[in-house]
Amino acid sequence: MPAGAPREGWAGDLASPSFVTAWEREVCRMSDPQWLESAQHVAVSGLQWGDEGKGKLVDLLASRFDVVVRYNGGANAGHTVVADGVKHALHLVPCGILHPGTLNVIGNGVVLDPVALSAEIESLRTAGVEIGDRLRISDRAHLVMPYHRLEDGLREAAVGSLSGDASRIGTTKRGIGPCYADKALRSTALRVSDLDDPARFRDKLEHIVTVKNATLGALSDLTGAEWTPLEAEGIARETLAAAEAFRPFIADTAALLFDAKNDGRRILLEGANAALLDVDHGTYPFVTSSSASSAGIYPGTGLPGGFVDEVVGVVKAYQTRVGAGPMPTELEDETGARMRERGNEYGTTTGRPRRCGWLDLVTLEHTVRISGITRISLMLLDVLAGFDQLALCTAYRSEGRTIRRLPASADRLAAVEPVYEWLPGFSEEIEECRSYEALPANVRRYVEAISNHLGVPISILSVGPDREATIMRP
Ligand code: GDP
Ligand code: IMO
Ligand code: MG
Repeated sequence: MPAGAPREGWAGDLASPSFVTAWEREVCRMSDPQWLESAQHVAVSGLQWGDEGKGKLVDLLASRFDVVVRYNGGANAGHTVVADGVKHALHLVPCGILHPGTLNVIGNGVVLDPVALSAEIESLRTAGVEIGDRLRISDRAHLVMPYHRLEDGLREAAVGSLSGDASRIGTTKRGIGPCYADKALRSTALRVSDLDDPARFRDKLEHIVTVKNATLGALSDLTGAEWTPLEAEGIARETLAAAEAFRPFIADTAALLFDAKNDGRRILLEGANAALLDVDHGTYPFVTSSSASSAGIYPGTGLPGGFVDEVVGVVKAYQTRVGAGPMPTELEDETGARMRERGNEYGTTTGRPRRCGWLDLVTLEHTVRISGITRISLMLLDVLAGFDQLALCTAYRSEGRTIRRLPASADRLAAVEPVYEWLPGFSEEIEECRSYEALPANVRRYVEAISNHLGVPISILSVGPDREATIMRP
């Protein structure tokens, strides 16, 4: 196979590692709740502003699946898995990589930073994770380049200095927005397949860097930042060197997934970011730049609409947000600080403290609807132990009226007052509970109030970061 040529087919790819695990998978399946046993393809999708615990859930489910696929976002995501006491933070590689026998796919909808990916592969290997032949990267995914990261930071600074700090999106500065913008613009975009031909890659980059220098220079002038024009050859060298770490994994992943599906393989979809950060349906403009709800699955994988049997919405038992933008239930007091400390609410990617507040059912009704959610996995319930009362925001007061729909305007959302329903709290630590019945009555009451309000079953409950600290309901 010529270097960089897309890999074809997939039949042999899992043949040896999956033989034993295929049997194990069947055993797993037999002890699973009915809904999970009978679902062939499952999606995991965050329903808040990210960091709901998608990594933990994907890790929990992955051993039952043949393929785990990321379909959106980039290295702005930080998915934490705590496995056998070891903590892994994944940014671009699907969490299924921690499970031998699982093929992991970075789909075409992901924006891929070659330098970040090569560092992530290296750190996984250092942590003793056997990657072997278990990773595939779409030849159609777009490349995040150093000028995207620079532009991300400069745009934030420019907006801040022109319109004030409140206008900043508070991005992760990973170059995500500028890369997706170039994808839509086309003439300044580079894709993984461009890495095939280094000479042609250098040519394209030369032209793109000329355009980028004009943009970056103008942005720097606006902010008064010091700035040296970029030089294409250095960027080409760095990118092509980084690409060596993943060149063997480049493939036509849409064709691969189609074959996998037709061969009867089970596919697990790992959403990144979350539905309130979706570029169309989130709290725009304080969102990310991809279809971060389950709607991103189809364009981001190339698989046809409607093939997913269960869409599991991942919900933190309270609300958090990192970055700017309206958050009606935010608590800038002792209670919020207590949630942050108990939940260790500091960003996996940037280390920023997360804003914390009570669970917002108005936003959840919206994201359950747009994501086609069939079940909920309720995470970090243990964090809520010790509060006298627990609040659920069931509506907003806006301009003298009670509203139950999420306003389109960020300004209007920033001005609403949350309407709370109060429930009794619980004082017991619940991290050791392993069945729904073992949970204190007030925890069950809280869970049922959420489920009844949203009209969706809560099928999984998480009571601690470890794999074992999980309750699966029939
Ligand atoms: P993701 O981006 O949705 O994958 O979530 P993150 O990994 O960024 O953040 C979730 C954090 O919560 C991680 O540190 C997890 O280890 C942790 N976590 C997940 N589930 C639970 C839980 O049930 N209880 C507690 N205390 N922590 C959890
Ligand atoms: P995971 O997958 C939390 C937020 C950023 C910022 C906004 C735009 O770990 O849940 P971007 O860099 O994407 O242009 O930033 O979106 N954001 C996330 N917040 N978790 C994430 O991913 C996020 N991905 C993006 O903080 O407010
Ligand atoms: Mg995260």
